[in-house]
This record gives sequence, structure tokens and C-alpha cells, in this order.
Amino acid sequence: MSEVTGSSTATAESEFVRVCALDELPAVGAAAADIHGRTVAIVRTEDGNVHAVDDTCSHANVSLSEGELDGCTLECWLHGSRFDIRTGQPSGPPALVPIAVHTVKIEGDDVYVALSQN
Ligand code: FES
Repeated sequence: MSEVTGSSTATAESEFVRVCALDELPAVGAAAADIHGRTVAIVRTEDGNVHAVDDTCSHANVSLSEGELDGCTLECWLHGSRFDIRTGQPSGPPALVPIAVHTVKIEGDDVYVALSQN
């Protein structure tokens, strides 16, 4: 797992926070970032799109950014549940509860994330 450190002048969770530069992310893969005390997986897929989802598996306290990315699914390394990073939905057990999906915007070379409220 790689990790990125964000900086923010935001005062509310719904505001966009600069998380990292694009080139701090893996070419394809995930990095964990701390945003207002919440650990978020920032994921760049093969098509170059960047997504942000909660980093903690909904089944147990496991970092999803340490799992395998396959297309738009992130696999939990512990028990193998796969989460769609566009919707947060698990494809099957043991995880049954979706993970939160956050909004990403790219401005220039910078990645910004606005946390969802759930
Ligand atoms: S901890 Fe992720 S599927 Fe069990």
C-alpha cells in the first residue's frame, strides 16, 4: 500500500479537499489517504479515472487499498469480497454492506475529494 498525505483549507466535510498530486498515485492501483480523520482509498483504474471509496472493508477492519484492483473492483485481501469502486457495492459475501463512495475531481495535476455524508 502506498500512502498520500492531503492538505486542506476546507472547513466542512462536504467541501473538496486536495488529497495529492496525480503522480503520487500508482499508475493503476490504490493509495490510502486521510481526509478529516477518515481513511479513504484513492484508486486509479486502467482507463485513468480516479475514484475514492472508504478504505475500510465493511466486513472487518481491513484496508481495501492493500487489496487487488481488477477493473473497477477492489478485492479485500482478507476474505476476498470485491467492491465496485463506482457504487461501493460488494459483489458477494462475506461483506454484505456497501462502502461509501466519495466524489473526486481533478484540477490540473491535483486530486480533490469531497467526502460523502454516509
Ligand atoms: S475483512 Fe474484507 S471480506 Fe472479510
